[in-house]
Amino acid sequence: MGSLTLNDCVASDPSRSLLQRLYDRKTVQVQTLRWKIACRVTMSMGVKERTSSLVRMEDKRVFIFGVGYVGLAFARHLHSQAWNISGTCSSEDRRIAVQEAGFQTFLFNSNDGTNLSEERILALQNATHVLVSIPPVAELDGDLVLSTYKEQIYELARNTNLHWIAYLSSTGVYGDHHGEWVDERSEAMPVDKHGIARLNAEKEWLQLGHETGACIQIFRLGGVYGPGRSAIDTLLRSEGKSFKQRKRERRRYTSRIHISDVVQVLMAGIKSPCPGVIYNVVDDDPAPRSEVFSHARDLIHEKLPHLSHLMEQNNLESANVQDWYLTSSPEKRVSNLRIKNELKIKLIHPTYRSGLEAIVNGMSQ
Ligand SMILES: NC(=O)c1ccc[n+]([C@@H]2O[C@H](COP(=O)([O-])OP(=O)(O)OC[C@H]3O[C@@H](n4cnc5c(N)ncnc54)[C@H](OP(=O)(O)O)[C@@H]3O)[C@@H](O)[C@H]2O)c1
Repeated sequence: MGSLTLNDCVASDPSRSLLQRLYDRKTVQVQTLRWKIACRVTMSMGVKERTSSLVRMEDKRVFIFGVGYVGLAFARHLHSQAWNISGTCSSEDRRIAVQEAGFQTFLFNSNDGTNLSEERILALQNATHVLVSIPPVAELDGDLVLSTYKEQIYELARNTNLHWIAYLSSTGVYGDHHGEWVDERSEAMPVDKHGIARLNAEKEWLQLGHETGACIQIFRLGGVYGPGRSAIDTLLRSEGKSFKQRKRERRRYTSRIHISDVVQVLMAGIKSPCPGVIYNVVDDDPAPRSEVFSHARDLIHEKLPHLSHLMEQNNLESANVQDWYLTSSPEKRVSNLRIKNELKIKLIHPTYRSGLEAIVNGMSQ
């Protein structure tokens, strides 16, 4: 596997001596120039050339803010490629579980003020790659990680050992486009305080990239599903669907992405670190949730018949859904062309059908 740093990009440019001199002056203008040239050089290189760049063992140290569902799947994949992994969880129970899965994990919880100690900050400062996977807190009106560790992260971002910072965002930032297609150039019009905080968090991370020259990539995820978190799991859980889930079920379009595709996109981002880029991470079919649940029911009947009795209660609840909330549902279809064209992604699960089938097959083994 290859990885290309911002400095590698600059070093490979024939005008490096000029760049180097400019860079030594450490002005904001120079950092912006460096950022722009690195971006241009990265874009002009072929994917093959970029992916065959040197990867040294010492370059493989990732720090994950928020080892949750996505963070853990990413950590597992990196672990299989001999990366050194550390990260944070917000609760002691979760921290122990993740630690037992083999990853060095520290407590960080903005709600109760649990912060990283100096020693833990060192693990952060040694990172070559950072994934930010903690959702924003609406009350903060910005990114939770940056608001707590701004100074340390700016220091890290100026460190030439840092190759990549990824911020996990959401397609929710687009808001309501009345069912039209949106891509990364479309206007973000978040409809609630969470969406506004998310968009502000994106802006803060991009600003950090501009100011420091660090490679920041924003990944706007659709609804992430996979083993343990899918329509199959919801139907089989006895507690039934939440109001929020039932509300989303009435939408015409819902973006989603299988967890294994999230991981492959992040890996492609590491291999092609063009700074300051936003990527939508969604599959090809923004099908309504009702259609997905219907297919999930069929799959359970067909492949897990011994569990189908668990679904009955939830079916009844769906029939009771009221219509009054339909009017305020934001609708859009999110395009994934950029990850296909620029990161050369071939989706493992282009639609919910293959994704759900893989999940059911995994459960019936
Ligand atoms: N899953 C989706 O469908 C989806 C869709 C779009 C965007 N996203 C975004 O993608 C990111 C990752 O998603 P995910 O599904 O992996 O989320 P997740 O499983 O809920 O993980 C979130 C992580 O953030 C930590 N965290 C939450 N609140 C915190 C706080 N106040 N202080 C410190 N840490 C905190 C959690 O700690 P614990 O480990 O202790 O729980 C967890 O490690 C999130 O930003 C999410 O909003 C997710």
